[in-house]
Amino acid sequence: MEKEYIKSPMNYIGNKYRVMGQIQKWFPRSIDTMVDLFCGGCDVTINTDAGVHYANDINYHVIDIFREFQKHSADEILAYIDETIERWHLSRTDAEAYRLFRDHYNTGKKPLDLYILMCFSFNYQFRFNENHAYNNPFGKDRSSFTASMRANLLKAWDKLAGVQFTSGPFQCFDFGVLKQGDFLYADPPYLITCGSYNDGKRGFTGWTEKEERELYDILTDLDKAGIRFALSNVLEHNGETNEILLQWYKDHHYHLHQIQVSYQNSNYHAKKSTNVTKEILITNA
Ligand SMILES: C[S@@+](CC[C@H](N)C(=O)[O-])C[C@H]1O[C@@H](n2cnc3c(N)ncnc32)[C@H](O)[C@@H]1O
Repeated sequence: MEKEYIKSPMNYIGNKYRVMGQIQKWFPRSIDTMVDLFCGGCDVTINTDAGVHYANDINYHVIDIFREFQKHSADEILAYIDETIERWHLSRTDAEAYRLFRDHYNTGKKPLDLYILMCFSFNYQFRFNENHAYNNPFGKDRSSFTASMRANLLKAWDKLAGVQFTSGPFQCFDFGVLKQGDFLYADPPYLITCGSYNDGKRGFTGWTEKEERELYDILTDLDKAGIRFALSNVLEHNGETNEILLQWYKDHHYHLHQIQVSYQNSNYHAKKSTNVTKEILITNA
């Protein structure tokens, strides 16, 4: 029987929920310590069994929400969400209520308020301006704290409870927590596609060839130390190839696995043969 996966309550852009089975197939069977170096909405962390979990992301706003989840029971969190939605009259249709609540968040900066705000925002995105003020627009007629997000939060809460979170650039992570046989999963921004979190315009540094090469150097060193890794990435996109990635995995004889992604509304794009995104997973064992 297919394993049932838990969906993160974040609806995080670029999350790996839909391809979880395909990537987990190549993860080690038994993991003592696992690091999710670019954890985003933590979909991979909460669906991977390990003795100890570390999860890191440069976006400390998101990490602060997870840390806040850990400080309260699931019931307390849900009660706070329900009360806040009621007090601020948040709904799928009231743009003014959203704007007022966004101002309120940007003044108080409470992580749970950011979670609620994100639930009513356009495409559930964490977008900030240069001054780290949340500036994502209202998700009119589309976004709200849905029954499935509530159920996801309840299920994910248990899994998040023991995770050790850090928020910083991946180069600053303490890789000393990993010993021989442990496992690191890396799902960085993809150099040749654009996500709103890697353009460097959201108050965080962008993703360039420099970061790309630094990450591969770290993964090569981990491999030498007997640590297993899996790297998600995009090798080809709209006719462009990530040559740095191609060269690196070939030089080291790592294993490449194709990941099938079904994009919704892709009929138009499918007609153009250059509009192909080749998602892959690279593993060292
Ligand atoms: C593709 S997303 C990860 C999605 C995640 N696997 C999931 O399932 O939700 C990439 C993540 O890398 C983070 N990121 C970008 N630059 C980073 C950096 N220099 N160091 C650490 N994290 C970074 C972004 O904030 C984003 O959350």
